[in-house]
Amino acid sequence: HKCSSILDTTSKEAIGKPAKVQGWVRALRKMKDTVFVDISDGSTCEMLQVVVPKMIKPDDLRYGSSISVKGELFLAPNGKTELRATEVHVIGACNVFEDGYPFAPRKIYDPEYIRQYLHLRPRTRSFSTLLRLRDLATTMITDHLRDRGFLSVHTPMLTSNDCEGAGEVFLVKPQSKEILKNMKKEGQSEDEIYFDTTAFLAVSGQLHLEAVARALTKVYTFGPTFRAENSKSRLHLSEFYMLEVEIAFITRIEELMEEVELLVKQVIERIIEKGASDLHSINALEPQWLNKTFVCLTYEDAFNVLNNHANRLQQPIKYGEALSKEHELFLVEHNDGVPVFVINWPKVIKPFYMKECIDDVSKVAALDLLVPDVGELVGGSMREDNYEKLELKLPSTGNLSWYLDLRKYGNVPTGGFGLGFDRFLQCVLGISNIKDTVPFPRWPHNCNL
Ligand code: 4AD
Ligand code: MG
Repeated sequence: HKCSSILDTTSKEAIGKPAKVQGWVRALRKMKDTVFVDISDGSTCEMLQVVVPKMIKPDDLRYGSSISVKGELFLAPNGKTELRATEVHVIGACNVFEDGYPFAPRKIYDPEYIRQYLHLRPRTRSFSTLLRLRDLATTMITDHLRDRGFLSVHTPMLTSNDCEGAGEVFLVKPQSKEILKNMKKEGQSEDEIYFDTTAFLAVSGQLHLEAVARALTKVYTFGPTFRAENSKSRLHLSEFYMLEVEIAFITRIEELMEEVELLVKQVIERIIEKGASDLHSINALEPQWLNKTFVCLTYEDAFNVLNNHANRLQQPIKYGEALSKEHELFLVEHNDGVPVFVINWPKVIKPFYMKECIDDVSKVAALDLLVPDVGELVGGSMREDNYEKLELKLPSTGNLSWYLDLRKYGNVPTGGFGLGFDRFLQCVLGISNIKDTVPFPRWPHNCNL
């Protein structure tokens, strides 16, 4: 008996062959002489029907148990494969009703209920499907970028810069009093002892990515990012995954917008193509805007739209300020639910590294991409590549002389963007709360599990 995943058993070649399958019991139906058991193992959203003769049914074959089955694969009358068992072992029993297992057979729970049991959440059908789609989306993003000639770069998680300058960094220092005592130098603060500088968890890998782009031209980094925001919203996490792309030799924000639009559309198309059955099983709908050209508004345009509709907003817009979530969603709705780029933002509300617009120095060549239900999905900009201008704007803290140095040797213009991966999944899969896109979400007061 060759050990097969449930996905393997769904292929035509598997029929008529002996197989050994391992998984978790999702449903049981007791008949006169047999028990029908549906099992899953994560390899597909499909369950395998196992036919167990009553004679060989172990006592603790119950919903939730992990089992190992040997038998032969047949084509069932419904056209699906079924495993006719000759041997069944319960590996780990599960006493749903006595032991407090939080899920019962054939019940559908809402995401808030399931979220209370993060460690058992992957056992639910909906969340295991989410995890498969999250894996697929990761691969489709890297495939797309490789096809476009980008190289993956691992930027550090430990860093001395607060790239976005928003003060939302998590501080990192050793716990050991012993280490602190032995490494302490004269006059040093405790936060600087280990690295000789204050260290943070990265809020963005952009600055390091810019260094690499000035040698490898087209690069990206895709990994966890940390922000100590005091937000419990359905769109914020303390630890989220961000895809950051940086491109050398581009000079116009339009080139950046093209790259973003292509990425978003093509990755979604690939997910739809390869993830059809999983998408179907969670009733995800294809975005209505896939074949539409994204809208592009300047900040001024966006301001005017919002200002002209002030009576329809709870919070009116003030010129020069960032957009609220309500403003973002209004702009998308106002454009028939097609994603909207907002470009050319007031300089004072954006980070130091953004390049000024050529025709208006009060603005920077930055873009935000706003999408239905989520709002801001992507943030990016052209980078200030002029040494003198950058020097004036460089934050005094954070040891960024190396970043300035990049503009000294073989300098080129670059631009790039960051896409919030968890928000991307919300958008593609129609998931209302970002905490339901990540296996173990972190948000204020929630890092226990
Ligand atoms: O707009 P942000 O802050 O841009 C940057 O960090 C740039 N350095 C990126 C770059 O140009 N390389 O963040 C980018 C995206 C946002 O548009 C949003 O989708 C997501 O990251 N994001 C969050 N997602 C979940 N939880 C949070 N707390 C997030 N903060 C930002
Ligand atoms: Mg942003």
